[in-house]
Amino acid sequence: MTEHQPIEHDVLVIGAGGAGLRAAIEARSHGASVGLVCKSLLGKAHTVMAEGGIAAALSNVDDRDDWKVHFADTMRGGQYLNNYRMAELHAKEAPSRVRELEAWGALFDRAADGSILQRNFGGHAYPRLAHVGDRTGLEMIRTLQDYAVHQGIDDHMECAVIELLTDGERVVGAFAFDRDRGTFKVFRAKAVVLATGGVGKAYRITSNSWEYTGDGHALAYRAGAALIDMEFVQFHPTGMVWPPSVAGILVTEGVRGEGGVLRNSIGERFMFGDIPPLYRNQTADNEEEGWRYTQGDKDARRPPELLTRDHVARCIVREIKEGRGSPHGGVFLDIAWIKERLPNAAEHIRRKLPSMYHQFKELADIDITEEPMEVGPTTHYVMGGVRVDADSQMTDVPGLFAAGECAAGLHGANRLGGNSLSDLLVFGKRAGEYAARFARENAAGRIAREQLDEVSRIALEPFERSVDAGGAENAFGIQQDLQELMQDQVGIVRNERDLRDALEGIDRLRDRAGRVAVSGNREYNPGWHTALDLRNLLAFSEAIARAALERRESRGAHTRLDYPDKDETFGKRTIVIRKDPDGGLAVSREPIAAIPDELQRIIDARK
Ligand code: FUM
Repeated sequence: MTEHQPIEHDVLVIGAGGAGLRAAIEARSHGASVGLVCKSLLGKAHTVMAEGGIAAALSNVDDRDDWKVHFADTMRGGQYLNNYRMAELHAKEAPSRVRELEAWGALFDRAADGSILQRNFGGHAYPRLAHVGDRTGLEMIRTLQDYAVHQGIDDHMECAVIELLTDGERVVGAFAFDRDRGTFKVFRAKAVVLATGGVGKAYRITSNSWEYTGDGHALAYRAGAALIDMEFVQFHPTGMVWPPSVAGILVTEGVRGEGGVLRNSIGERFMFGDIPPLYRNQTADNEEEGWRYTQGDKDARRPPELLTRDHVARCIVREIKEGRGSPHGGVFLDIAWIKERLPNAAEHIRRKLPSMYHQFKELADIDITEEPMEVGPTTHYVMGGVRVDADSQMTDVPGLFAAGECAAGLHGANRLGGNSLSDLLVFGKRAGEYAARFARENAAGRIAREQLDEVSRIALEPFERSVDAGGAENAFGIQQDLQELMQDQVGIVRNERDLRDALEGIDRLRDRAGRVAVSGNREYNPGWHTALDLRNLLAFSEAIARAALERRESRGAHTRLDYPDKDETFGKRTIVIRKDPDGGLAVSREPIAAIPDELQRIIDARK
């Protein structure tokens, strides 16, 4: 019989980044008892990697902005595969969520009139990102955490969920382990909110830290929920490329928002050469105009460095492939050049981009007020995730909710920078509210002992094998091989042959994962932790590769060399992944809901 610590809450929130904290706060405010599970320590969330700001049409810097423009920008950025209702709710509610955060203590940068200052970011028509220098995500987490701990939420740190527990169709709790002690915890809950973030640790070069192994994606999938849009993985155009030990660390888009430009090895601002028709009337075709835009000239058009991330990342890859890259395999990002235009430029850079200044000084011995940075794409975000109802954030599985990066729909084929933080706030709040309502309206379900025994058996299996036995495998080696495979074959540019090879490779890795042996005991055992992560990493990696194979076109963050153009049929279809009754992975195409006329008119007006 499984030994475990039983814990009971009305609502269990899994993940303590922006979405999880906001959901927990909301559920508590509706009277639910709330447990918050955090895989590492509170405060260590990928939310802090959204450095440049929170997108919300506050209209403080440009009064032409409003929710309609934000909605249209988000839909265009997502290449119209977005869930229109989520995009509408997000654009309408983001300003209130930002003001609420301010009321809870977030200290935003200020405009001259004292209102929250907003900066430019890729794909946003007007300066829209409320920010705190280049530490916005950090300030958001600090504020939400401070607020949450005073609401009477029980946190469970260093705790990782292995499986969701179900009673018939419905989710009734979660089976977890304490990473420090290795002991099991069984959470019984009337509603569960997944807010586990992304999947970056399936790739070699990533801005994500070790926690991001797609746990929520895989837990939901195994519990019977549908995953959508999994082919759309966002490669942020600018991560560090040098020195190798820090490759992938994010270089905020805020650098470009403050006037930073991209150049190749022959000094060309190569983004001028490649402005997509969709953005041509909004994008400057000369340096002067782009600079004026950055400085707030309302008549100027935005510089091409502020095109959407999918496009900028592809252009950088092209420059590198065609031999115009920087010495360490990236391109140059130059903010120092603004000295030519701005008195006190060095001070301005240090004030607006303090983390970038220190990051490059300390990690690469580069003074960004004097020299260009070397940057290249880094796996940053996954648009794909668990399918949810737009209003309530409930998944296909009753009692199971999802919010933030592990949920899908808002961003379509490509997310605009800054829309992640507003996503976390808007839909974290909604998930918390509706989870509390579900908990009020439904009694606790039954947790079957056999289910607990089965999860415990799976979890402890690696200890049953001897590391000295022939054929025993090491979990770290398998994760590393998966990262190579995903980076090389399911990366920024894809083709059928690579994707098929990748799927065969994932099958082989799964076989090897079945032979992983772990030595030592259950107390803080990283080999064991990684062995458990592998189940999730392999499940969603297969989902990404299968969805990428199915989408035979290029759109947003998904580029197929063998299908380089958009295909209108796929423009109206979502790729859906579900678990087959026989345990396999099923892929289907489902039509996207038609956009209501009044929203379509808003989009058309901005085309
Ligand atoms: O570049 C950045 O600051 C990242 C922002 C985001 O991913 O939203």
